[in-house]
Amino acid sequence: MTRNSIATIKKLAKKRKISCLTAYTSSVAKIIDKYVDIILIGDSLGGAIYGMRNTQKVTLDMMINHGKTVFNSSKKAFTVIDMPFQTYRTKSEALINAKKLLKLTKCQSVKIETDQHNIDIVNHLRKNSIKVVSHIGITPQKYKNFNKIRSVGKTDKEIINICKLAVDLEKAGSIMIVLECIRENVAKKISGILKIPTIGIGASAECNGQVLVINDILDTDKSKPKPKFVKTYSNLNSIIENAVKKYCSDVKMKKFPKKKNTY
Ligand code: KIV
Repeated sequence: MTRNSIATIKKLAKKRKISCLTAYTSSVAKIIDKYVDIILIGDSLGGAIYGMRNTQKVTLDMMINHGKTVFNSSKKAFTVIDMPFQTYRTKSEALINAKKLLKLTKCQSVKIETDQHNIDIVNHLRKNSIKVVSHIGITPQKYKNFNKIRSVGKTDKEIINICKLAVDLEKAGSIMIVLECIRENVAKKISGILKIPTIGIGASAECNGQVLVINDILDTDKSKPKPKFVKTYSNLNSIIENAVKKYCSDVKMKKFPKKKNTY
C-alpha cells in the first residue's frame, strides 16, 4: 500500500471532501488509517492523553514519541504532526525543531499555528523543503482556557484580516490550511480563493475537508464539555465503564478466570 502524498490529497480534494482525524496511539492509528485521508498527530494530545488543561505544556519529546508510534502503525494516510507551543518562535528554532520532528517520526509534514507574525517562518521552512500545514482562526496554543473560544469572522475587519492571512500563508508555501472556528461565509470565501486544500474544524461544510479530535468523536471523556462543532459517533466512556464493571464483578464472583483462561 502506498502512503498518500500531498499531491494525492490535492488531487482528491478536487473530487471530494477530505477526511482527517487525530491519532496519538498505535491501536487508534491502525483502525483509522483504513478510512481517513489524513492523520493529524495533534498537540491536542495534551488534553486527550495527558489530561492537561491546554496545549501549552506539550513538549517536542511527547510529539516525537506519539508521532513515531502513529507513523509506524499507519500505512496509507498522509501524516501531519503539530509543532508544540514555543518551538517555532524564530526561523532557526522552527527549522531545527521541524527537522528533528520529521526526522525522528518520519511524518510527512508539520503543522504550525499561524498569524501575521509568523508567515516568514512558514516561508523559511518551505525553502528548507519542510512541508507546512498552517492553522488559522482560533489557534488553541494561545488559550489557557479553551472554554472561552468564539468564532472568527464576525466583523468586516476580521474578515479582511483572516482572508489576507490565508492568502499570505498560501504564498509563503503552506501545503494546506486548517480553518478553526471560522464563520461559514468566511470559510467559503477562503476556500474559494485558495488553491491549497482547506480543512475545517468548526468552519462549516464549505471547506475542502474536515478534521476532529478522535477522543471527541468517541466521547472518551464524559466530563469534558464539547464545543458545538463536535459530533459524537460513539459513547466510549460508557462502553469502557460497562466493561470494567463487568470485569471487576467477574473477578469478585470468581467467574474469571475460567479453565479456558488458565495454563
Ligand atoms: O491539535 C489538534 O488536534 C489540532 C486540531 C484540533 C486541528 O490542532
